[in-house]
Amino acid sequence: MVDIAVIPVAGFGTRFLPLTKSQPKEMIGIVDKPVIHYIVEEAAKSGIKTIVFVTGRHKRAIEDYFDASPELEYHLEKQGKYKLLKIVKEISNMIEPIYVRQKEAKGLGHAILMAKKVIGNRPFAVLLGDEIIEDKKPLLKSLIDKFETYQTSILSVYEVPWEKVSSYGIVSGKPLEEDPNLLLIEDLIEKPSLNEAPSNLAIIGRYVLTPEIFKYLKIIKPDKKGEYQLTDALKLLSKKDVIYAYKFKGLRFDTGNKLEYLKATLHFAVNHKEIGEDFKIYLKEFASKLS
Ligand code: G1P
Repeated sequence: MVDIAVIPVAGFGTRFLPLTKSQPKEMIGIVDKPVIHYIVEEAAKSGIKTIVFVTGRHKRAIEDYFDASPELEYHLEKQGKYKLLKIVKEISNMIEPIYVRQKEAKGLGHAILMAKKVIGNRPFAVLLGDEIIEDKKPLLKSLIDKFETYQTSILSVYEVPWEKVSSYGIVSGKPLEEDPNLLLIEDLIEKPSLNEAPSNLAIIGRYVLTPEIFKYLKIIKPDKKGEYQLTDALKLLSKKDVIYAYKFKGLRFDTGNKLEYLKATLHFAVNHKEIGEDFKIYLKEFASKLS
C-alpha cells in the first residue's frame, strides 16, 4: 500500500522573481488556492495520508497553511461564516504533514534522499511542488493502481515537443502488450540535448518509488551544476529492477513557468463554481478586443 508521499519544496523559484523573493513559489495563488493546495489535494484524493515536505528556509508559509488556524477559525465562527470555516478546517485535516529540512539546494535527488529517515523501507510517492495535473482520475492514483499490480517503481511521462526535451528527464521504452500505456523503461537521461534524446517522452512530476531508490541516490555523482538528479538514480535502478513509465494524456501545468501559470489560472478560473460563468463572459469580451 502506498500511503506516504514526498513533496520537495525547498527551491528558490528563480523563474518567478521578484514575486518569489519573500514568498514561497508553492504559495503563489491560482484563483483562491495556493499551487501547493492543488498538489496536496491530488495526493489526498489518491489515498495518501502522510506527506513529507522537504523544505528550506523561508518556507514557513507552507507549514502554516497546512496547520490549524485557531484565531482565524474563532473569528469565522463568531461571524457565522460557517462555509469558510469548513474550508479552512478541511485544509488542516487534509493530510498529516511532516517537515524535513534540506539545508542546501542540491537538486531533486538530494531532496528525496533527505526524506529517507522518515520513509524507511516502504514504497512512497513523489509529487513535484509546482506541477498541477488535471484528469478525471488523479494521475497519482493511476500510478498507485499500476504499482499495486506490478509492485515496482513507476513514473509518469508525457509527450513534449522535441525542441523542449532539454528541459526534462527523458525516457525511452517498450510498450507492454497487455497495457500499451505502460512502457518498460530502457533508458533515462536528464535534460538531454536534442541529439542525445532517445525520445520526446518527458518525465512529469509524479512518481511511485520502491525504497531501493535510496541506495542509488546515495551513490550518484552530481551534475555540472553540482546537483544530484533523481533521473540518474532511476537509471541505475532500471539496470537492476524493471521500472515502468505511464503515459499521461491529460492536462499538465508547470506553474513555475509564467505562461503556464497564466494558463493554469485561466483554466481554474473558468471552471470555478462561484466566478466561472461570469469570468467566461468577461474573457470572451476581452478576447474580442485583442488585435
Ligand atoms: C525535474 C526532474 C526532471 C523532470 C522535471 C519535470 O526537473 O529532474 O526529470 O522532467 O522535473 O518537471 P526540474 O524541472 O526540477 O529541473
